[in-house]
Amino acid sequence: MLGLDRQSPTLYGPDSMNVLVTGGCGFIGSNLVHWLRKNRPTWTVVNLDKLTYAGNLENLSALEGDPKHVFIQGDIANRELVDHVIRTHRIDAIMHLAAESHVDRSILGPEAFIKTNVLGTQVLLEAARHAKVNRFLMVSTDEVYGSLGPTGLFTETTPLSASSPYSASKASSDLIALAYEHTFGLDVVVTRCSNNYGPYQFPEKLIPLMVINALNDKPLPVYGDGLNVRDWLHVEDHCAALTTVLEKGKKGGVYNIGGNSERTNIVIVKTILQAVGKPETLIKYVQDRPGHDRRYAIDATKIRTELGWQPTFVFEKALADTVKWYLDNRTWWERVTSGAYRQYFDSQYKARLEKH
Ligand code: NAD
Ligand code: DAU
Repeated sequence: MLGLDRQSPTLYGPDSMNVLVTGGCGFIGSNLVHWLRKNRPTWTVVNLDKLTYAGNLENLSALEGDPKHVFIQGDIANRELVDHVIRTHRIDAIMHLAAESHVDRSILGPEAFIKTNVLGTQVLLEAARHAKVNRFLMVSTDEVYGSLGPTGLFTETTPLSASSPYSASKASSDLIALAYEHTFGLDVVVTRCSNNYGPYQFPEKLIPLMVINALNDKPLPVYGDGLNVRDWLHVEDHCAALTTVLEKGKKGGVYNIGGNSERTNIVIVKTILQAVGKPETLIKYVQDRPGHDRRYAIDATKIRTELGWQPTFVFEKALADTVKWYLDNRTWWERVTSGAYRQYFDSQYKARLEKH
């Protein structure tokens, strides 16, 4: 196994290493596990995931029998378990994605967000410090910066100004990770990425929710005036960026990741309706999300110029391909939208849809 070479601009050599991916059964995590197995075939990927409602082992069924993917079901907040995993699998680096990730759920119930995102991250950092793990990649979010007006972009020096319980919990974990670098010298790198889209996204998030509602001829609930803006990035571009930062990022460095694809929500919803051949009469403007951030937009100059990463997917084509993925994988989303999902959907949308 090749260890850390601190003299080299590339942190890890081409030989094998053991990377712990937390949250590897979620949307970005499962895409990342696939991406790493394909693009870093000598690495062993140890995947620690609690399998909450958002975690789905079925996303990784193609890797069944692969000796270089090891799945462990468990909670990142369990220190004993985390110590055991790091020790027995001789973990060289951690890519930390496990989180409660949905803003609306953090408004319905913030507690789980503090437990997993804040305490869980601190447990992992402490375990990494004691085990002398070579590098800790903290996957944060652009939501830590708060909301933009009609112009301007978030840079890495934009002050943090989180709005929702979700983004406040991510800002906390982001700063705690940086504190472990500053105070204890742990080799931490932080990424702050914009909105992802692509296969295996849980259908509570805008794009899969709208595709699936449209296919079921159900109302498409657009919050507020539909003019909130997000900067969309294909999940595979995100996976490449995360790996680039892990391999080449500067210790203690923060890297914004974005897709140069700002769109209003209503434009996204209309594009989806067109793609699946459904009428715009399905659009239903509903009560706004409390504290709804108006606009996110990323300046990704630093990661491009320092590390050579830039997005490769073209939004309109990749969105069409994503819609097609949901059309082709009906059994996947039918399974994840049964049972508990229905209860969530009712508590989140029933009153909103009835009031308007
Ligand atoms: P997701 O909700 O789809 O997946 C989260 C995964 O974490 C699930 O598999 C879940 O089972 C697991 N998990 C939750 N709590 C856990 C715990 N206590 N212990 C172990 N595993 C646990 O989330 P996602 O959209 O894939 O996001 C992944 C990460 O990327 C998160 O940290 C999120 O904040 C960040 N992020 C997401 C986006 C986006 O657009 N989705 C953008 C920027 C950053
Ligand atoms: O910016 C990065 C963040 O992007 C990540 O950190 C989060 O984990 C991820 O969930 C995402 O947060 P958003 O709140 O931006 O994503 P969401 O898909 O929930 O909403 C996108 C936009 O669509 C937002 O303006 C709210 C709006 N929306 C969302 C839903 C679910 C609607 O209008 N109707 C809906 O039903």
